[in-house]
Amino acid sequence: MEQQTRIRLADLKGNWSLVTGASSGIGLEFARQLAALGTHLVLIARREAALQELAGKLQQEYGIETLIIPADLSSPADLETIFSTVKARQIQPLLVVNNAGSGCVVDVANADRHVMTRMINLNVRSVTEISYYYLQEMIRNQRGGMINVASIVSFQPVTYMATYAASKAFVLHFTEAIAEEAAKWNLQVMALCPGTTRTEFFDSANAGDWLKRFKGMSAGQVVSTALRSFDAGKRVCVPGLKYKLISCVTRFIPRGYLTRASKSIFQKSLRSRPEQSTSQE
Ligand SMILES: NC(=O)c1ccc[n+]([C@@H]2O[C@H](COP(=O)([O-])OP(=O)(O)OC[C@H]3O[C@@H](n4cnc5c(N)ncnc54)[C@H](OP(=O)(O)O)[C@@H]3O)[C@@H](O)[C@H]2O)c1
Repeated sequence: MEQQTRIRLADLKGNWSLVTGASSGIGLEFARQLAALGTHLVLIARREAALQELAGKLQQEYGIETLIIPADLSSPADLETIFSTVKARQIQPLLVVNNAGSGCVVDVANADRHVMTRMINLNVRSVTEISYYYLQEMIRNQRGGMINVASIVSFQPVTYMATYAASKAFVLHFTEAIAEEAAKWNLQVMALCPGTTRTEFFDSANAGDWLKRFKGMSAGQVVSTALRSFDAGKRVCVPGLKYKLISCVTRFIPRGYLTRASKSIFQKSLRSRPEQSTSQE
């Protein structure tokens, strides 16, 4: 088979893309901006009604086809259902966006180990399985691309967000490494590392006050920067100058300082919840 050149955004028109966590926030914005490029969409999340509403709007506005798959990505059985459902429809996504993820602000004394394990299953296991499954399909087709959503916290340990930050460090390192491996087949793989983005993330992470303290970026800005970087062939994208600087500077700061600095920042989120004890300080 003839070796293809790496895909560009223009190639997505009339082909399929797959977006996880499409029911809100950054994933919903990926779905909107990709639909505007004319790509058909597989949309995955747990909230079926939200996916149906989005699919209806995108079909009407952009004339694309959609397949919605309500699924809990922290469940290995649901991952298999996704693979088999997409295959049964003979869909081979040209672009896969591993976006679904969740976080939790909590201290070691109060963390529920089952919640932490589900977070790892979602943020780490599902990203790993979906990446290998679809990259192998793309290698067979000699064509495709992937965007894995990591975070600005991928670059450092974060006190009171220990599991989340470590899971996102995995996503960044994993993605950079497979990007190098996949380049052999001209597959374009990129890690997206957003800073604070105005989505539902902080409510579900028990840090409802965060967006009052830090303005952050809109999901629209994050996704348009991500798609431009992907089109330019970048392997890591950190949207926003401030977050770019943070991602560079943290490489040179001692780890002990970073854990103490993040402790003082996230402590305020812990204290804003009356039911949460911050353990011995
Ligand atoms: N917001 C930020 O500041 C920020 C910064 C850096 C990185 N990120 C990352 O960006 C990604 C998107 O987050 P967001 O900010 O857009 O937050 P969000 O608005 O809370 O969106 C999270 C998405 O993931 C889906 N999801 C969560 N748990 C799931 C599960 N078990 N199975 C299937 N889908 C699940 C949610 O859908 P359902 O609830 O319908 O399942 C939703 O569509 C995440 O990976 C997050 O870690 C966010």
